[in-house]
Amino acid sequence: MESDDASQISKDQLRGALLRGEITSPELMPEGSNHTFLVTVSDGPRKYEAIYKPRRGESPLWDFPSGTLYKREYAAYVVAQALSWDFIPCTVIREGPYGVGSLQQFIDVDPQSNYFTLREESLEELERIALFDCLSNNADRKASHCFRDRGGLIWSIDHGLTFHEDPKLRTVIWDFTQQPISGYLMEQVADLLESLRSPQGVLQELAPLLAPEELMALHRRLERLLKSGRFPSQDPNRRNVPWPWF
Ligand SMILES: Nc1ncnc2c1ncn2[C@@H]1O[C@H](COP(=O)(O)OP(=O)(O)O)[C@@H](O)[C@H]1O
Ligand SMILES: [Mg+2]
Repeated sequence: MESDDASQISKDQLRGALLRGEITSPELMPEGSNHTFLVTVSDGPRKYEAIYKPRRGESPLWDFPSGTLYKREYAAYVVAQALSWDFIPCTVIREGPYGVGSLQQFIDVDPQSNYFTLREESLEELERIALFDCLSNNADRKASHCFRDRGGLIWSIDHGLTFHEDPKLRTVIWDFTQQPISGYLMEQVADLLESLRSPQGVLQELAPLLAPEELMALHRRLERLLKSGRFPSQDPNRRNVPWPWF
C-alpha cells in the first residue's frame, strides 16, 4: 500500500488522524501474543498505517486483569508524553473493526536494529527507555521492541504489560543496574511525580486507564527511584528477563 509519511505531520495532526480516520483492511500481524492488526487509517486524502490492538483480541493472563492491555498501551504513551519522551509512537484509544482497542502509529522498523545495536550506538537513549521500563513496571521488554526506524529515530513498542501494582520488571535491558540515574532524567521523573500529585494534568488522563492501586504503585515507584537515584537490581525471587527475550 502507498501510505503517507506520518513523520511529516505534527503530533496533533497525527493524533487527530488516528482518532477520526476511517480504519480499513485489518491484517493480522504474524507475531504477538494477542490479536494485533496492521490497518490503514484514511484521514481525507491521506492514508497512514497503524497497529490496532482490540480489547477482544487480548489473550487472558493470570496476573493482569482481563481486557485492560489496550488501556495500558495508551497509559504508557500518556506517561512518556508527560515526561516529554517521544520514543513511544502516537497512541489513542478508539473503536475499530473489532471493537474498542488501542491504535498506534506504525513505525517502519530498520530490521537490523534492536536492543543489541542500540546499546552499541546510543546508551543515552537506551537509559531513557530502561528508566521508562522501571517506572512503568514493564513486564515484557523484549530485545526486538526497541529499535531505530529507517530514518534513524529510536522507538519503543509493546507496552501492554505495564503498570501492574506488584513489582514485575522483566526486561532484557540490565545494562544500568545499580548505576546512578542521569541528573536530567531525575529532574524529569521529579516533574512527573509533581504533576501526578495535582488533580489536574496527567492524573486526569491516567485515572480512567489504571486502577487506583496501580496509580498508587506508580507513585511509590517514582518516589523510590528518586530516593535511591539508581537503577534497581534484579530480584532473585522472580523472573527478571522475559521469555522469549527477542
Ligand atoms: N507501532 C508499531 N509499529 C510497527 N510495528 C509494530 C508496532 N506495534 C507492533 N508492531 C509489530 O507487531 C508485532 C506484534 O506486536 P506486539 O506489540 O508484540 O503485540 P502483543 O501485544 O501481542 O505482544 C510486533 O512484533 C511488531 O512486529
Ligand atoms: Mg508482546
